[in-house]
Amino acid sequence: MTGELSPIDKAKFAAAKRATAFVESGMKVGLGTGSTAAWMVRCLGERVRDEGLRIKGVPTSTRTADLAREVGIEVISLDEARWLDLTIDGADEFDADLNLIKGGGGAHLQEKIVATASDRMIVIADPAKEVAHLGAFPLPVEVIPFGWKATRTLVEEALEGMDVLGRETALRMNGEAPFVTDEGNHILDLHLKRIGNPRQLSLVLNQIPGLVENGLFIDICDVVVIGHGDGRVEIRDITAGTFDEDRVAFADNDNLFSDI
Ligand code: 5RP
Repeated sequence: MTGELSPIDKAKFAAAKRATAFVESGMKVGLGTGSTAAWMVRCLGERVRDEGLRIKGVPTSTRTADLAREVGIEVISLDEARWLDLTIDGADEFDADLNLIKGGGGAHLQEKIVATASDRMIVIADPAKEVAHLGAFPLPVEVIPFGWKATRTLVEEALEGMDVLGRETALRMNGEAPFVTDEGNHILDLHLKRIGNPRQLSLVLNQIPGLVENGLFIDICDVVVIGHGDGRVEIRDITAGTFDEDRVAFADNDNLFSDI
């Protein structure tokens, strides 16, 4: 079965599987959104089933909540959990300081709230997500539908004063209609090409009325687990200043792959 997966999917699986080793019984765990995070949720579900791992999961989207329940993870809300031991999530880009762009899946608002309410955030990624400078991936910003065109104008004006290489903005679409987030909002994708000062940009964007949250995660992520298509895994912990390597085995009869 795994032979049918692309090298990128194998890399995502390797990162996701290795990251679940950070999860211990009794933990409250933030569950990210996206294709890499979906592998992580499946791997955790396997540990719940096979090892009797006892965890409570706080999903960052309805998609992740549905998957978590399907694989047997107990799902609770962030308000029930109040605080989390750990959040594991994917990313669209990460830099050397483990600052991130997220929101390619349109879930960065809940993802940022959940990650920030956690003792640790671990990002799981394939090697293509690592960048020297954030910004090649369009930066998602969530905006409320009321007056979104005025909000977009304010975003474009704010970008004039920012250290970025591109300034085009686009309303994210879902077919013919605007994309709608779990919170009922829209997404503007900012085509910035290169972000000179992510911290400053994040602060400026979040001052704009109507803009709910941007997809820059600054000083939130502690550890990145980078998977490779051959099963190799790198684990970089910037808080501890450590770098480790490991290997994940792909089991061809793994139940995880049966629905792929
Ligand atoms: C969703 C996200 C995802 O984590 C990000 O888009 C990465 O997705 P994938 O693992 O599918 O590449 O931020 O809002």
